[in-house]
Amino acid sequence: MNKKIAVIKGDGIGPEVVGEAVKVLDTVAKKFGHSFEYDYQLMGGCSIDACGEPLTDDAIAHCKSADAVLLGSIGGNTTTSPWYKLPSDKRPEAGLLKLRKSLGLFANLRPALLYKELASACPLKTEISSKGFDMLIMRELTGGLYFGERETKEIDGVVTAKDTLTYNENEIRRIAIKAFEVARKRCKKVTSVDKANVLDSSRLWRKVTEEVAKDYPDVTLEHMLVDNSAMQLVKDPAQFDVVLTENMFGDILSDEASMITGSIGMLPSASLNETTFGLYEPSGGSAPDIAGQNKANPIATILSASMLLRYSFDMQKEADAIENAVQKVLEEGYRTCDIYSEGTSLVACDQMGKLICDRI
Ligand code: IPM
Ligand code: MG
Repeated sequence: MNKKIAVIKGDGIGPEVVGEAVKVLDTVAKKFGHSFEYDYQLMGGCSIDACGEPLTDDAIAHCKSADAVLLGSIGGNTTTSPWYKLPSDKRPEAGLLKLRKSLGLFANLRPALLYKELASACPLKTEISSKGFDMLIMRELTGGLYFGERETKEIDGVVTAKDTLTYNENEIRRIAIKAFEVARKRCKKVTSVDKANVLDSSRLWRKVTEEVAKDYPDVTLEHMLVDNSAMQLVKDPAQFDVVLTENMFGDILSDEASMITGSIGMLPSASLNETTFGLYEPSGGSAPDIAGQNKANPIATILSASMLLRYSFDMQKEADAIENAVQKVLEEGYRTCDIYSEGTSLVACDQMGKLICDRI
């Protein structure tokens, strides 16, 4: 197959981890007889520096004309970087939000699973981690607080800031359907996370989710309040299969879920619209503190490339080949510093990429 992939390296560790993911894609292309063409685009701080804005319309058009988008990470140190002196709609993150919105990527899939080889990197007690876990967070990505009306103004001499959380029933229904569809292919359980004891938007979320559940009698639906979910994630993560939630709750819970897998450097993500088009990125950030040092863990980005093959190109055996190679490298004891523990072999970012390529 011939496919065009828009590639956004971004900021911080982005260029390093994307570089390794592209090598992995090239290895897959060679082995399975495909041809991938890469269309490199700028977004985030690097685009601010080069073009004066975090995402240009031209870059959006290039992403739209590709078959899928692979992204590293964007942003810098929020206290020291000059990018954060800019108004909020000109900062690196604004580029990512604009891209998600312009591509209609409302469904963000963030799988969090504990590899048994990394159980010692899991910060939870052994009695909890020994049970293992394998969940998928289905985060709504184009609504809620991230895209609601906001303003900061002085009211009676007092500076006041306002953000609004809005969802309509259609936005809730389409993401709930995605969650139930995915749950059907997994362990057939959806935990819908909300704050229905306080928020109107959450009460609507519950109502619509229950309506959707009627079409999936084979899938169990349970509701859980977000504060309780945060607690359950560290108390008994094995109880979760698909976690369905709105944008902001999903942002927070997915960082928590990723940390209990041992490292945020292990978690891929896919952002999808109604078609097979998608944007694939690691769940973690740009880690400016270790950028340029060849220390970052490229596995989350490599696994994002594998999700890209699976969801956008329907290349199942190619995706399996990448995932098996990652599993093998972990079994053989190779670790980047974020997942290193005594008795394992410490490797750099590019070495990890090569080890994975060699096992495909
Ligand atoms: C994420 C990130 C983004 C988000 C930031 C960079 C805007 O934290 O993808 O989880 O909040 O969605
Ligand atoms: Mg986040």
